[in-house]
Amino acid sequence: MSWRNKLIIALDVSDPQKALSIVDMLGDYAGVFKVGFELFVTAGPKIVEDIHKKNKKVFLDLKFHDIPNTVAKAALAAANMGVYMFNVHTSGGLQMMKRCRDTVAEHCDKQGITRPKMIGVTVLTSISSDMMKNELSVNHTLKTQVKHLALLAKQAGLDGVVASPQEISMIKTSVGNDFLVVTPGIRPSWVLPDDQMRTATPKQALRDGADYIVMGRGILAQEDPVKTLELISIDILTA
Ligand code: C5P
Repeated sequence: MSWRNKLIIALDVSDPQKALSIVDMLGDYAGVFKVGFELFVTAGPKIVEDIHKKNKKVFLDLKFHDIPNTVAKAALAAANMGVYMFNVHTSGGLQMMKRCRDTVAEHCDKQGITRPKMIGVTVLTSISSDMMKNELSVNHTLKTQVKHLALLAKQAGLDGVVASPQEISMIKTSVGNDFLVVTPGIRPSWVLPDDQMRTATPKQALRDGADYIVMGRGILAQEDPVKTLELISIDILTA
């Protein structure tokens, strides 16, 4: 599979017209476009429809985290919109993830619609080990916590997790190679990490086995996003 099918572009803008112009500009480079809080809260479900009209897939990144019933209903709405992928917080617990997964799977089977990939968020890539210990009061290592949450997501029947590039091989080894790993925190070597704490280059993340890499500012905040993507391509294709 070409690396471009593994690239998810984060549409982290509030203006739907701007988002759609990014889809037009980068449509040849990425298989999936990510709609997160900023865009969804401003533009609503119509933005998902508009991206679909351009024959592009949508990752609805709303990181659902609530009681099982509420999350399952939100997930159903996402499935009915025809999104390719959506996510929930694994820290919502096993029952929440399982109810969400089972409700969506049953509904999609009944309606004959494609089931979206359901992905669990483990530990946000903006959280460091120190923050986890001192602010969140989690007393084991970050890797142990990510592994624990990834195994919980697997047990609930989710398709994979969002995790930092530094955790890809650990997840593949401990949960299984067919369990999807979606990695944000991706920066080309010549771009600063911003608020991301656990970063890697696209080349490294793909070598480590990432199924999807999510890129926002590493492409969109650059002077020439298309040129940046060309440079990333050259880097990836060079041994
Ligand atoms: O600009 P940047 O490439 O850092 O954007 C990363 C994107 O991935 C953002 O939209 C952010 O919300 C999302 N994300 C993340 N960490 C997670 C899950 C999603 O950075 N654990």
